[in-house]
Amino acid sequence: MADYDYDVLIIGSGPGGYVAAIRAAQLGLRTACVESRETLGGTCLNVGCIPSKALLHASEYFDAAANGTMAKMGIKVTPELDLLQMHAQRIDAINQLTGGIAFLFKKNKVTWLKGRGAFVDAHTVQVGEQTVTAKDIVIATGSSVTPLPGVTVDQKVVVDSTGALELDKVPEHMVVIGGGVIGLELGSVWRRLGAKVTCVEYLDQILPGFDGDIRKESNKIFKKQGIAFKLSTKVTGVTVNGDKATLTVEPSAGGPAETIEADCVLVSIGRRPNTDGLALEKAGLTVNARGQIDTDHRFQTTVPGVWAIGDVIPGPMLAHKAEDEGIAVAENIAGQTGIVNHAVIPSVVYTWPEIAGVGLTEEVAREQATKNGGEIKVGKFPMAGNSRAKTNHEPDGFVKIIADAKSDRVLGVWAIAVPAGTMIAEAALGMEMGATSEDIAYTCHAHPTHSEAIKEAAMAVRGKAIHV
Ligand code: FAD
Ligand code: NAI
Repeated sequence: MADYDYDVLIIGSGPGGYVAAIRAAQLGLRTACVESRETLGGTCLNVGCIPSKALLHASEYFDAAANGTMAKMGIKVTPELDLLQMHAQRIDAINQLTGGIAFLFKKNKVTWLKGRGAFVDAHTVQVGEQTVTAKDIVIATGSSVTPLPGVTVDQKVVVDSTGALELDKVPEHMVVIGGGVIGLELGSVWRRLGAKVTCVEYLDQILPGFDGDIRKESNKIFKKQGIAFKLSTKVTGVTVNGDKATLTVEPSAGGPAETIEADCVLVSIGRRPNTDGLALEKAGLTVNARGQIDTDHRFQTTVPGVWAIGDVIPGPMLAHKAEDEGIAVAENIAGQTGIVNHAVIPSVVYTWPEIAGVGLTEEVAREQATKNGGEIKVGKFPMAGNSRAKTNHEPDGFVKIIADAKSDRVLGVWAIAVPAGTMIAEAALGMEMGATSEDIAYTCHAHPTHSEAIKEAAMAVRGKAIHV
């Protein structure tokens, strides 16, 4: 048997890679992790989940003071924005959390190899001047922003998500290209801080992949908050003149063009897997038509000993999906059975209110049931009927549960509610355990909590909600 430098080498230290590294080390494997950034934690901790939530959280307070919500509760304040401090607390969150991963690497004896990794062969990776060998190699290189052809991101007037997290002043007019998760979260941040925000979306609805009712209702809520939408519209060009941009847009299906003036343009039309410069061919690997690395259910690629997880493989590009795959791949490499149930991965948009879902949308559940000669039942409960939401002045949104009509097994749960991201964990656990809507309806939920809306939606599946 060959003598390797490490048992496991992981390329990339995002939530997929760093979790895989820690788990592998916990399982007694000699582990190293290659990372080219200055700090560990990948997109998520450095320029993704964490900094965006730091700005979302802070701007929620500003908005509550500015839009009269606090005054409604007897607190009169006129907020004054200290953007420098808002950024400082964002940077502090990043530093604390990325430093935390470095601490966990030391604690678990994971070696951090600083630099870009590229395959030499299936068991060898070049990192700078160094050549490192390992019995198993995990590709966890994540993803980066998808460029829009013909539009140059200068991170001043035309920004991607990273630039939009670091703006040094509130734009007068921000145009967001793409009504997906990033566009809505970061568009909300700058709208709350005073920018006029226009969202240009190619499709006829925002939030592709979410349940149809949720997409419609979210659009209404964002409009009410002041975001303007141009749906079924594509951007055909952006020209920058000094600190102003002119966008040319036209109907997605073709038609007369018009122009929009802005002082900030956010390009957020999706992300693509990072495989450039990895020299995958030297390991005997190729990518699929979407540029992703295909694996089997154990996260093994077509080359024995080479594994892949996270944004670089198919599936939703989410930190918690990458983390779960990180644990599973380490367990599989160690000879255990690591499994991820891809049917139960929650999605959350961290706006106000939050938007969350897990499992099938009503559209997909109905289509699948019809194909199999079955039926579905749907229960809905409005947050306006939930005592806690009402008391907190948070009447927007609803919870919706989709169940199989015959077995009553829950197939999907969707919610728009201020703490929907936290509420959805209950639904994910229930679905993981094979819960029926009756199981949820007869589970005691604490009062007064927003989560009672989940219980009521479960009751509504069989026509029995109380508070409507
Ligand atoms: P990444 O986090 O992308 O990490 C990959 C790492 O690999 C990077 O650090 C990169 O530098 C390194 N790397 C790449 N190639 C090499 C190489 N050749 N050699 C060495 N190192 C390399 N997801 C959520 O679930 N919740 C959220 O709230 C959320 N918010 C987001 C907000 C924004 C603005 C963005 C952009 C993304 C957000 N995401 C969110 C998505 C989430 O960040 C990703 O799904 C997640 O980070 C993917 O993890 P990963 O480990 O696969 O890859
Ligand atoms: P997205 O895939 O969520 O949305 C992109 C949107 O842009 C879609 O609605 C699409 O129809 C639209 N679009 C595509 N091309 C267009 C064009 N030329 N003109 C106008 N619209 C166009 O991608 P987004 O928002 O960039 O996010 C990338 C990834 O990051 C997502 O997959 C998401 O999973 C992840 N993410 C997750 C977050 C969370 O979990 N809260 C937060 C932020 C990002």
